Amino acid sequence: MSAPQPANHPAQINPDDYYFYHTIDLPGLGEMKGEWDLRAFADDYIGHVDLRDKRVLEVGAANGFLSFHMEKKGASVISYDLSPDLDWDMVPYAHKDGAAWSPMRKNHLRKLNNAYHLSHSLLNSKAQLVHGTVYAIPESVGLVDVSTFGSILLHVRDPFLALQQAARITRETIVITEILDNNRQKIINSLFSWLSTGTVRKIRHKLLGPSMIFRPITSIGHPEETWWHLTPELLEQFLSVLGFGDIKISYHKQFFAEHNATKLMYTLVANRTVPRQPA
Ligand SMILES: C[S@@+](CC[C@H](N)C(=O)[O-])C[C@H]1O[C@@H](n2cnc3c(N)ncnc32)[C@H](O)[C@@H]1O
Repeated sequence: MSAPQPANHPAQINPDDYYFYHTIDLPGLGEMKGEWDLRAFADDYIGHVDLRDKRVLEVGAANGFLSFHMEKKGASVISYDLSPDLDWDMVPYAHKDGAAWSPMRKNHLRKLNNAYHLSHSLLNSKAQLVHGTVYAIPESVGLVDVSTFGSILLHVRDPFLALQQAARITRETIVITEILDNNRQKIINSLFSWLSTGTVRKIRHKLLGPSMIFRPITSIGHPEETWWHLTPELLEQFLSVLGFGDIKISYHKQFFAEHNATKLMYTLVANRTVPRQPA
């Protein structure tokens, strides 16, 4: 005989009301499939930072898989994300009707927030969800030991301002994970394959180096919600300007379930080297 389900564990949910960005296992519901499945390599994604007894701010938590994962690692987590009342930085293509996106975006955020709340409840999480934009993290969040930016800086028009906002309230460490623009790397690698690996790395650094590549393509009006390919070297410079100069970069693959493919990503773990200025 199977164990009775506690009353707050629904047997099924209406898919029109929930959006799972991350695949997540939920008691009573099983596996909820999302765009990304980070379950196998979640520790790589968060840079293996020791989170025991740390106060952590996850900027852009979506349906919360990483917040709940970090909580399991001993962190006390504040999950931060937009609500339907707040604006996503859409790319304002002049030839497209930007206003038409707004209801769709609001509905998406409503479903994403619902998925967070449902997961939070079924996992008995103590994480706190705070709504706001990256550009105005409220004072009420207080100071945190660690802030994480997983796959969000590519979606915001001003990634430096976003980081600056979190840096002012972060005591120890900022973790950033982004997708690697592997295509450009591959082109450079193949063009210069006759040179030594060290020389190719130097060329790659000179050509891509600390740069942000603008992704919107006017002719196809796509992407609408993604702005940049940010190189690890650029983020290293941003972070050191902000006083987080002790930086380690690692590379890992994550499963992009939507395309049934793995994607190469990188994670920067940046520790404070300049003391925080009191507000
Ligand atoms: C691609 S998801 C990343 C989720 C998770 N951090 C991860 O690494 O898998 C980006 C998240 O950032 C949020 N987001 C996008 N723009 C934002 C903004 N301007 N302010 C706050 N959150 C934002 C989105 O709602 C979404 O949940």
